[in-house]
Amino acid sequence: MRSVTDTLQRPLRDLRISVTDRCNMRCTYCMPREVFGKGFVFLQRSELLSFEEITRLAGLGVSLGVRKIRLSGGEPLLRHGVERLIEQLAGLRDSEGRSVEIALTTNGSLLAAKARSLKDAGLTRLTVSLDALSEEIFQRMSDSGVAVGKVLDGIATAQAVGLAPLKVNTVVKRGVNEGEILPLVRHFRHSGVILRFIEFMDVGTTNGWRLDDVVTAQDILAMIDREFPLRRVDPNYTGEVAKRWALADGSAEIGVIASVTQAFCHECSRLRLSTEGILYTCLFATSGTDLRAPLRDGENDAQLRQRIIDVWQKRADRYSQLRHAATDLPMKKIEMSYIGG
Ligand code: GTP
Ligand code: 5AD
Ligand code: SF4
Ligand code: SF4
Repeated sequence: MRSVTDTLQRPLRDLRISVTDRCNMRCTYCMPREVFGKGFVFLQRSELLSFEEITRLAGLGVSLGVRKIRLSGGEPLLRHGVERLIEQLAGLRDSEGRSVEIALTTNGSLLAAKARSLKDAGLTRLTVSLDALSEEIFQRMSDSGVAVGKVLDGIATAQAVGLAPLKVNTVVKRGVNEGEILPLVRHFRHSGVILRFIEFMDVGTTNGWRLDDVVTAQDILAMIDREFPLRRVDPNYTGEVAKRWALADGSAEIGVIASVTQAFCHECSRLRLSTEGILYTCLFATSGTDLRAPLRDGENDAQLRQRIIDVWQKRADRYSQLRHAATDLPMKKIEMSYIGG
């Protein structure tokens, strides 16, 4: 297998694919309703990469070292027939005949109905976003009518069909849901769910991010440690986004994703493919490289593969490490729902 490295010697290992820019929630930190309201124009069907196009590009990524593919959105379960895409991706093999991990990040609202078919299609791992157990706080943060119980049912069904270990992502915003951290830990202890708390990030340009709204990973851990003493756990793999901890009594694993206060760019091996086929080398990118046009113009695999190699070899991104300087600049960053988180 030919593997590629970028200008900072980082290999290509993960591919995050956004399969739709639509979502049935309007989380204030991701798709604020003032921007993504009634008049917002989403991509048309013909603009989206088809499953065959996605699988072809993903296969080229695998031939260059990708070991994990994560589907996201928007809300990936809104993409009609996404199971068929998972089946196709699960069939990919690297040059040594190994399959890749296929993961998916969802808001959980449609999960109870889909968990079985996702598992049968070959999904290996699942992460569900859930910011609060309190109905009022959850609805305020997700700006939706979805009930917490609906997401909890989705989580329970996913566990029941064997999608384990399941992770829950909680974005923490100061003054909004930091009071939900301990209730979430108490709720998910002994369930096998891995809980991850995420520092609110300045993705895109519409979520009104301010440093004051960030509850730091250090504060989150201190809060948990006062009630449930914590111990460190080794990373699962190099470049893992979450730092791992465990409750000392072994009843739960906790992760913290400290993109703001402890940047992890030095090990970042993630390439992102947007809903309409643009490659981005950073979550905070301001521009990317279109693969859809050459794909639809009939380029062969060798030509498309070379485009991916060129993009990765030129890559120098480390936005989180440079954030303090960058946040003062008027940058037009790509929105989360479009680049896929
Ligand atoms: P696993 O380690 O495979 O479980 O997945 P993950 O943590 O990489 O993916 P997930 O979709 O659950 O993302 C968790 C959080 O980390 C989200 O808020 C993502 O936006 C954020 N995240 C993921 N990758 C990156 C990255 O490369 N840079 C930054 N700054 N944040 C990231
Ligand atoms: N900061 C941190 N995490 C975010 N997510 C979406 N927007 C943000 C943000 N501004 C999270 C979602 C989901 C994951 C893909 O990214 O909650 O769990
Ligand atoms: Fe939708 Fe997820 Fe964004 Fe919330 S964070 S608006 S659920 S894509
Ligand atoms: Fe990777 Fe960019 Fe995130 Fe840094 S900020 S970890 S380079 S995606």
